[in-house]
Amino acid sequence: MNRRVPVGSAWAAWALLLVGPLADALAAEQGLTRSPFGKTAEGTAVDLYTLSNSQGMEVAITNYGGIVVSLTAPDRHGAFADIVLGYETLDEYLAGSPYFGAIVGRYGNRIARGKFTLDGKEFTLARNDGENHLHGGLRGFDKVVWKARGILGDKGPGLVLEYLSRDGEEGYPGNLAVTVTYILTDENELRIHYRATTDKPTPVNLTNHSYFNLAGQGRGDILGHVLRIDADRFTPVDARLIPTGELRSVGNTPLDFRQATPIGARVDADDEQLRFGGGYDHNWVLNKPAGELGPAARVEEPKSGRVMEVLTTEPGLQFYCGNFLDGSNVGKGGKAYEHRYGFCLETQHFPDSPNKAHFPSCILRPGAEYSSTTIYRFSTR
Ligand code: GLA
Repeated sequence: MNRRVPVGSAWAAWALLLVGPLADALAAEQGLTRSPFGKTAEGTAVDLYTLSNSQGMEVAITNYGGIVVSLTAPDRHGAFADIVLGYETLDEYLAGSPYFGAIVGRYGNRIARGKFTLDGKEFTLARNDGENHLHGGLRGFDKVVWKARGILGDKGPGLVLEYLSRDGEEGYPGNLAVTVTYILTDENELRIHYRATTDKPTPVNLTNHSYFNLAGQGRGDILGHVLRIDADRFTPVDARLIPTGELRSVGNTPLDFRQATPIGARVDADDEQLRFGGGYDHNWVLNKPAGELGPAARVEEPKSGRVMEVLTTEPGLQFYCGNFLDGSNVGKGGKAYEHRYGFCLETQHFPDSPNKAHFPSCILRPGAEYSSTTIYRFSTR
């Protein structure tokens, strides 16, 4: 049964500004609520928006960093669990988070030595990963307050987040106007649409950094999850996790996930790439045509039966298996997130693309629109 009244033919066309108790009550009826989530150090109030669908799934997202704070999905018996790592309060996110659930930008992943040359001009970015630039720098899109509004569309309730990244922010050229839209559909999909425009040429690479554990957050490591990645090649890295530039076949390596394989089966194999990453922390070159929405990965957790499929328009996928988690982040329900308690599947352009002319270009120019879509689809078996 769908309790939602269809409010329009195109979800994007229907924006409902959440003002006043009447609007709030109407929105709640249609799967969208808002509550205060706290204040930043500068005193800016931020909210937590909860989207729910007709199947009982719920996703809670804050406009601080566009962070997915919680996401519930049913197991094969219909029992719901929260399947993403995160914190209960804003203060804990402010105190430090390894990008739990966040929108990452202006450039997700690494840029070697924080430098690149564009149209003959050299740019220097903030360095926050040894000598490299990582995930947008010291204050990336995961640490800013986004302007938020709820929408009710024919695919489901959504949240539109907007942020203007100023010319020179973290060293990037151009004023970049960014819009990220989250939609929770009745087909148990979390859809993320990213859009951006600029007034100067700039690299752009937006992604979401949710850490998943399909058994339920805090319920052990993710090594038993069975993963397929739809990629014949990956981009091998050096010891600093910067791609060497090679597109290497996954054949005869522990990075071959063309057949569904438990994450833990080879994660500690004697392999140079795994030593560099401390496990899996690599970019796969997706087989589907770049720019077209197509399959990237599928993960199954055998005990609960929960399945997650990832579809994207992006050319690459960073699979990171929580190698840096060490129990020091204590999350929701007082759970300490130990080594490999969560995994990320970050859809993206390849790391260090601004310095690799043969990688798909991440450069956005004035007059063009950056547009990217990723779908996390949940089911059971
Ligand atoms: C990404 C990187 C990892 C690590 C995590 C955050 O996935 O590739 O190396 O920095 O983010 O801890």
